[in-house]
Amino acid sequence: MGNFIFAGCDTVELAKKYGTPLYVISEDFIIERCREIREDFLEKYSNTMAVYASKAFLTKEMARIIKREGLGMDVVSGGELYTAMEVDFAMDKIVFHGNNKSIDEIEMAVKNGVGRIVVDNIRELDLIESIASKYQKRVGIQFRICPGVDVHTHKYIQTGQLDSKFGIPLADNTIKKAVKKALDCKYIKLLGFHFHIGSQIHENHGYSLAVRKVVSLIKELKDEYGFITRELNTGGGYAIGYKDEEDRKNLSYYTDAIMNTLEQECSKHNLHRPLVIIEPGRWIVGEAGITLYTIGAIKEIPGIRTYVSVDGGMTDNPRPSLYEAKYEAFVANKYEEKAVKKVTVAGKCCESGDILIRDLKVPQIEPGDILAVLATGAYNYSMASNYNRIPRPAVVMISKGKDRLIVRRESYEDLLRNEI
Ligand SMILES: Cc1ncc(COP(=O)(O)O)c(C=O)c1O
Repeated sequence: MGNFIFAGCDTVELAKKYGTPLYVISEDFIIERCREIREDFLEKYSNTMAVYASKAFLTKEMARIIKREGLGMDVVSGGELYTAMEVDFAMDKIVFHGNNKSIDEIEMAVKNGVGRIVVDNIRELDLIESIASKYQKRVGIQFRICPGVDVHTHKYIQTGQLDSKFGIPLADNTIKKAVKKALDCKYIKLLGFHFHIGSQIHENHGYSLAVRKVVSLIKELKDEYGFITRELNTGGGYAIGYKDEEDRKNLSYYTDAIMNTLEQECSKHNLHRPLVIIEPGRWIVGEAGITLYTIGAIKEIPGIRTYVSVDGGMTDNPRPSLYEAKYEAFVANKYEEKAVKKVTVAGKCCESGDILIRDLKVPQIEPGDILAVLATGAYNYSMASNYNRIPRPAVVMISKGKDRLIVRRESYEDLLRNEI
């Protein structure tokens, strides 16, 4: 009694059935987010497209859900593309990113007819042109531009500022040279531009600012080269609630700002409004997931703190150690009990920095209790590692209160499977 229920399932029962650590993902939640995208963006504005940023969380089952919900998919590696191909995802709905795509990855994209390659630099343009000519295929591209917009988020997940490894800066003439070059390429069809200003962004004005900057570029390119921009890809980055659901904004908070600014700027400059693409990742899947752990060692240092260790850690969720991400958690089997103290939740890795949560309020706890960490759906499973030779957890999907295993727990044999 009094257990934490997630998406209609008793989390303590799930922990018993599948073991811990365990990723649990709510399909209903993902479907609900996709519905919001359709209603508040795709159906509200004509000439728009939404693609799921699969880096947030990708398995074959996730790709099937996104396919069924009618969204496109953003991939950033051959592995993500391969996963999409395995479920017969429509290749014309794939957007292929990356600041250093390999020749093999570009070949894979060109051969399989990926809809849009987002080109990060001029070298990549040359590679695509030569590969496309080999396959006698015309390839649709967007240039990733770096709009020089600083947003308020952790510096490791800012991407639109001038000092970034991503994209072609707007600040100098490189983008014009790149456009000129693309227009002279026989096998390249330049569709437009892409920006992604960062992740977990709480304010919409960074998007409006980026849109204004890009529209100036669009106008200059029209005036100078007669180039008509057909597509503008505005990236993802919409914030979710990690500690507090209130932090999450509706999709339209961001997309209305993007669309209104774009409409205004285009009409001011007498430009045709391009197709607009959005690429949310975390916003679709972040709050759809939780991770269940079993509590083990409890170390009290009187007057200092109490460390509560769990059977996972930075291997299944590197975000707290990577960029000080904050999480909320509950003791799932004591969900209704009153909090009596604050503890520090530590992982089991051989690193002092393997701390998942600081100052978590908990009831009286003991080894064997189940800890449920919330909002772990994005950038947890997809960033997991085998550090300390710890096998990756299983993934369970919940739909309408029913659980199903979608990824098996790794075994020790799995850890050795490529060794010679
Ligand atoms: C190009 C691009 N698009 C979309 C995303 C998705 O970001 P988020 O999950 O914050 O929505 C990212 C994240 O890094 C990205 O790099």
